[in-house]
Amino acid sequence: MRVLVTGGAGYVGSTTAQRLIEAGHEVVVLDSLVHGYREAVPNGAELVVGDVGDRALVDATLKGHSIEAVLHCAGLILVGESVAHPDVYYRANVVGGIEMLEAMRSAGVRRIVFSSSAAVYGAPETTPIEEGQALRPINPYGETKRAFEGSLDWYTRAYRMSAVSLRYFNVAGSTGERGEDHRPETHLIPNVLGAVLGGPPIRIFGNDYPTPDGTCIRDYIHVDDLAAAHAAALQLTASSDDGHTPLNLGSGSGFSVLEVLKAAESVVGKPIPQEQSDRRAGDPPVLVASNGRARDVLGWEPRHGSLEEMIGSAWRWRVAHPNGYGTRE
Ligand SMILES: NC(=O)c1ccc[n+]([C@@H]2O[C@H](COP(=O)([O-])OP(=O)(O)OC[C@H]3O[C@@H](n4cnc5c(N)ncnc54)[C@H](O)[C@@H]3O)[C@@H](O)[C@H]2O)c1
Repeated sequence: MRVLVTGGAGYVGSTTAQRLIEAGHEVVVLDSLVHGYREAVPNGAELVVGDVGDRALVDATLKGHSIEAVLHCAGLILVGESVAHPDVYYRANVVGGIEMLEAMRSAGVRRIVFSSSAAVYGAPETTPIEEGQALRPINPYGETKRAFEGSLDWYTRAYRMSAVSLRYFNVAGSTGERGEDHRPETHLIPNVLGAVLGGPPIRIFGNDYPTPDGTCIRDYIHVDDLAAAHAAALQLTASSDDGHTPLNLGSGSGFSVLEVLKAAESVVGKPIPQEQSDRRAGDPPVLVASNGRARDVLGWEPRHGSLEEMIGSAWRWRVAHPNGYGTRE
């Protein structure tokens, strides 16, 4: 199948693009390189540099390559930045996304898999979180994900399209060739490894949450498991009726901040520089996915759910790439 991967120069998109190529698909990557890297784009994928909101470019790319399905991983991902600049987030994640959907309609491309986020749930009332739970995002980032999912609800009904929204929890790990190099980095595991390598010490935000060790619990999913789920979701858009299917992607179990630190110490064989801070506003104590629906619907299961695998693979990539992907263009 000929697939357009938007954001395919980023962490998730490039890993997924590689997997699709290995499975025999033809992949075209569309990425503005605002946060991605040319070097991350796998061999065998053509890179088109541009914005998903550039209607003429997306039209030409879809039609010129006879694209059959889109994996829409492109987007801005920083919660704090989204609070400071909601205009930028709505424009990139919602307006840009709608332009892309319009280009898909015009080109007759009716299948899309969307990188959504657990941020659509906000602070959930119960965990593990089921897909049917209320969507109450607590920041503009999560709201833009919810808004685009909402457009998929209505577009798929009105225009005979098929969509799957994959609500990722905390993505982690490396596949060997590709790893996590966000700038700035806000995710716990790469920052823990950065702390060992001379970066700022890890700040533990709160130790009095109602969890066994008092620190927040999150669900981590290996990027390779995530890539496998995308490949399955792509198949689902072929076989399913028109409509929009949201699916949680998590490993289904949670680890506390202290458990992550302990596992990282065992992987790197050194203490992790750390300091205790007050709670951060808006951090729910526990965010863990129910992944039963994804298992049932996709015939998928996470295979690399241990912290050792996620942190170990991230560490090996970091050691092999001390400067990440190097200088951004
Ligand atoms: N990494 C996670 O833990 C996580 C968790 C939940 C959801 N997500 C979602 O998954 C997707 C990928 O995340 P990631 O960690 O790979 O981020 P990333 O920043 O590494 O990748 C995003 C890519 O999109 C590109 N991009 C951004 N805006 C664009 C635009 N308007 N037009 C074209 N390209 C654009 C960037 O250059 C980058 O290469 C995002 O949509 C994110 O919201 C990620």
